[in-house]
Amino acid sequence: MKKIFFKKKPIICLTAYNKFFAEIIDEYCDLILVGDSLSMAYYGNSSTRSITVQDMINHGKSVRRGIKKSIMVVDMPYGSYNTKQKALKNAKKIINETKCDAVKLEGGTEIEDVIKTLVNNKINVMGHIGLLPQSVKKKKDYRVKGKNSKERKKIMDDLKSLEKARVFSIVLEAVNLNVANEVIKESKVPIIGIGASKNCDGQILVLEDMLGLFDKVPKFVKKYINLNLLIKQAVKKYATEVKNKKFPLKKNIYN
Ligand code: KIV
Repeated sequence: MKKIFFKKKPIICLTAYNKFFAEIIDEYCDLILVGDSLSMAYYGNSSTRSITVQDMINHGKSVRRGIKKSIMVVDMPYGSYNTKQKALKNAKKIINETKCDAVKLEGGTEIEDVIKTLVNNKINVMGHIGLLPQSVKKKKDYRVKGKNSKERKKIMDDLKSLEKARVFSIVLEAVNLNVANEVIKESKVPIIGIGASKNCDGQILVLEDMLGLFDKVPKFVKKYINLNLLIKQAVKKYATEVKNKKFPLKKNIYN
């Protein structure tokens, strides 16, 4: 696998789950992540845990067809990397079938050896520390990390482990600003923030969140458009036109 280096900063990242969205965002992104947020933001599950390797592959294949230039990363789902052997087998399967450029794993010290195994096998790995959605079992556990000294130490230890394991970049999710800035200062690899700090080397958001598809989103999301409202308005108009026989028009049917 070709090693990944970012040519410029800030690094612009977004998620995509299919070809059509990937195609739209590719021009403006440096990195597109097929995130396991797919489980919640696409399939409507209550956590990211119910997604499988095969789901990630299916969506990864679709996204691949929409990307011309961005780096493509696929999340390794919950339970797919709990041993070195399993991680290597699943990472190879994901890469072979989706032709992605890298995989992303959640965690730090506890998966240092797993990541080392992948990197030693020439697999590009992106890390993910701070809030780890795959570790969240209940909704109330979606909360900012790094608020006390124990959490702060854990995040800094995780950073060191991931650097030792030679990840090419790290997602830092939902951490308190002081800790985020400390991570950024200490880190030797690019830090991609989501609810972290504007000083990160890059930023990532879930595309559906920033497009305003959902009413409820985390504080770190900025909605750049209210797609939910626009879709409702369009569908309402369509329904009215069908009821009033205003659609289809002559130009929409075949003679
Ligand atoms: O699964 C995902 O979409 C992610 C991003 C939120 C970073 O991991």
